[in-house]
Amino acid sequence: MATRLLVIGPDGRQVAIAVDMAAAAGAAVRRVSDVAAALASLRAGRGADLVFVDLAADVRALIQGLRAERFILPVVAYGIDAAPADAVAAIRAGARDFLPLPPEAELIAALLAAASAPTRELVSASPEMARVLELARQFAPADASVLITGESGTGKEMIARFLHAHSRRAEAPFVSLNCAAIPENLLESELFGHEKGAFTGAVARRIGKFEEASGGTLLLDEVTEMDPRLQAKLLRAVQEREIDRVGGSKPVKIDIRLIATSNREMEAAVAEGRFREDLYFRLNVLTLQLPALRERPADIEPLARHFAEKHALANAKPVPRLEPAAVERLRAHAWRGNVRELENCLHRAVLLAQGDTITAGDIVLHGSTESGARQPGSDATAPVEAGVETGVGRSLAAVERDLIIDTLRHTMGNRTHAATILGISIRTLRNKLKQYGDDGVTVPASGAALGAQG
Ligand SMILES: Nc1ncnc2c1ncn2[C@@H]1O[C@H](COP(=O)(O)OP(=O)(O)OP(=O)(O)O)[C@@H](O)[C@H]1O
Ligand SMILES: [Mg+2]
Repeated sequence: MATRLLVIGPDGRQVAIAVDMAAAAGAAVRRVSDVAAALASLRAGRGADLVFVDLAADVRALIQGLRAERFILPVVAYGIDAAPADAVAAIRAGARDFLPLPPEAELIAALLAAASAPTRELVSASPEMARVLELARQFAPADASVLITGESGTGKEMIARFLHAHSRRAEAPFVSLNCAAIPENLLESELFGHEKGAFTGAVARRIGKFEEASGGTLLLDEVTEMDPRLQAKLLRAVQEREIDRVGGSKPVKIDIRLIATSNREMEAAVAEGRFREDLYFRLNVLTLQLPALRERPADIEPLARHFAEKHALANAKPVPRLEPAAVERLRAHAWRGNVRELENCLHRAVLLAQGDTITAGDIVLHGSTESGARQPGSDATAPVEAGVETGVGRSLAAVERDLIIDTLRHTMGNRTHAATILGISIRTLRNKLKQYGDDGVTVPASGAALGAQG
């Protein structure tokens, strides 16, 4: 599926050029004139993967509106011949990045690529994974519900997208919702939508995920997190193929394929009465069990090479080779965070590597069980080579601040990369930078760095 880009702002020549570039790079572009129209479009179930918003629009109102209605989307602000202060203000308001106009095609392509994570290539080299994929191919054409189980980070969403891509619904939307991430009282409206005035705060009709996925596939993550009342409604949706919007007066027909995931023992939830058995049987018509990464060691090296290549390309660096000692270190690790942990590790290694080789010292592992395997002489736990003073007598906050700022310098102001190296979320990084800014500390600018990276 093409990356869906929502562009918010008045018409203009420069924006038109940017939109053409995005379309040429494969994006499906929708344009609206202001923030209210953007929110209305999202409520109507016309989803987006990325938002570009004119500095002239109310960026803060947009970010707050998205947050209040739980539309989780990266926002990039743009401006024509904008002053650096405008870019900084947009980032402060919560924009992830800044796009200076006149636009550069490469920068637009990079922003789209970063937002189109779903189309990532699935790597599989182990016999364990081959068996899972063979089953998935058999299951894909059917409309029956599939339950995907596996530890966190094993690739459950990846397999769900694989099923969708190999089904007759491939051209229709793939929509996912993590039930554990939504407050209980809002989950029903998130799933089934609501009518205007259904409850305090329901300012307009909003389409739910079931309707947004119409004709396609709906992935429900962590279904065991649903309360019993909602489980009953989900059962009805699965059985009757119709749903009720919150506050709605008549049921709405739905045509979706449902995929559910669980990284806990679902049987246990059923046995303990926390999860309805009839719903369990409805969701679990077909099952795919994803093995943990440590149970398919033959995948570790090919995945590592794949991620090294992917992140090198994304950072305009030469694709590095992996020193044998680095591969050994990867093989010896327990990978409790599975493929996600491996990807983060390689992302960091690519940024840390000097020249065209990833050495054992570039492989930074957390909570490892492989202390014996550490390479002598390599300081594997040092996050960056930068000289941060960690001497006794300084407060933790001061050391943290210096480390963060040094890391940002190292990434030339790129916050996404800095957060990855530091092992914290973008949100945490942003909050800390805001704090430092408020404290009067100079922080490497991110708008400038983006321009420099092209
Ligand atoms: N076989 C694979 N090939 C390439 N990348 C993979 C593979 N499996 C997982 N990944 C990558 O690892 C990360 C985690 O995968 P995914 O989100 O599918 O896991 P998950 O099981 O849904 O995790 P969670 O339980 O936390 O929701 C993603 O960035 C995904 O692209
Ligand atoms: Mg997932």
